[in-house]
Amino acid sequence: MPHTLAVTTAATGVRLITLQRPQALNALNTELLAELADQLDLAAADHAVRAVVITGSRKAFAAGADINEMAERDLVGILDDPRVACWQRISAFAKPLVAAVNGFCLGGGCELAMHADILVAGEDARFGQPEINLGIMPGAGGTQRLLRAVGKSLAMQMVLTGQPIDARHALRAGLVSEVTQPELTVERAVAIARLIAEKAPLAVRLAKEALLKAQDTDLASGLRFERHAFTLLAGTADRDEGIRAFQDKRTPTFKGR
Ligand code: CAA
Repeated sequence: MPHTLAVTTAATGVRLITLQRPQALNALNTELLAELADQLDLAAADHAVRAVVITGSRKAFAAGADINEMAERDLVGILDDPRVACWQRISAFAKPLVAAVNGFCLGGGCELAMHADILVAGEDARFGQPEINLGIMPGAGGTQRLLRAVGKSLAMQMVLTGQPIDARHALRAGLVSEVTQPELTVERAVAIARLIAEKAPLAVRLAKEALLKAQDTDLASGLRFERHAFTLLAGTADRDEGIRAFQDKRTPTFKGR
C-alpha cells in the first residue's frame, strides 16, 4: 500500500491517483515519486485501466520537489539521484493521463502536471516554476515541456522571474485545456478520462503516441509515424467493430484487440 498516495477506481476504466502529503503541500519527495511511478506501472499492466487521473488537494496539486530533501543532496547526490529513473517511468506511461489541478502547482509539481496529456485546472490553480528563487532551475523537464506548451516568451518569463500564472492565463496560453470551479476539477477530469476509457484502447494508445511525436520530431517524420499507426489500426478487431457499429447504428463494444 502506498503511503503518499490514495489509489481508487473513479469510474469504469478510470483509476484516480491522489497525492497525499498535506503536511508539505504534496511536495514530491523521492518516496512519493517512486510510489507514483509504481502505481503508473501497475495501471499500465492492468487491462481494466484505460485512463488515469492524477490530482492533489484543494490547496495544492504539488508545491514542487521536496526542498528539505533536496537540501541534503550535493552535486554527486544530484548526479546519482534515483528520482531521474522515477521521472523516466512516469513519462513512459503509455495510457492517457489527465491531471486535475487545484491550488499550487509549482516547480516539480508543474513539471509533473505537464507529464499529463490533458490538464484541467480549478479557477484557483497557480502554475509556476519558482526554482530560480532557490538559485536553481527546473530539472524535471520544466524548461522543455513548458516552452512547448506555452511558447518561448511566457516560458522565459515564468522560469526567469519565478512568478506563477493563474488558471485563466494557463488556459489562454494552452497549458491547460479547461478551467472549472475548484470543487468540480476532479469530477471533470474523471468525466474526460471516462470518455477516453470507452474508446478503442489500441487507437487511443497510438493516437497519444502520434500526438506526442509532434512535440519532438519534424513534420515529415511525424506524418510518417501517423500513417504507419493509422495503417496498423486497420488490422484490429476494434476498427471492424467501430465501423460496423456505426453502420448498425449501435454503440460499439471495444475489446482492445
Ligand atoms: N518542499 C518541502 N516542503 C514544502 C514545500 C516544498 N516544495 N512547499 C511547501 N512546503 C511545506 C512548508 O515548509 C510548510 O511546512 P511547515 O508547516 O512544516 O512549515 C508547509 O508545506 C506549508 O507551506 P507554507 O506554510 O509555506 O504555505 P503557504 O500557503 O504560506 O505558502 C507556497 C505556499 C507559496 C507554495 C510556499 O509553501 C512555497 O513557496 N513553497 C515552495 C515552492 C517552491 O519553491 N517549489 C519549487 C521547489 S524546487 C523544484 O521543484 C525543483 C525540481 O523539480 C527539479
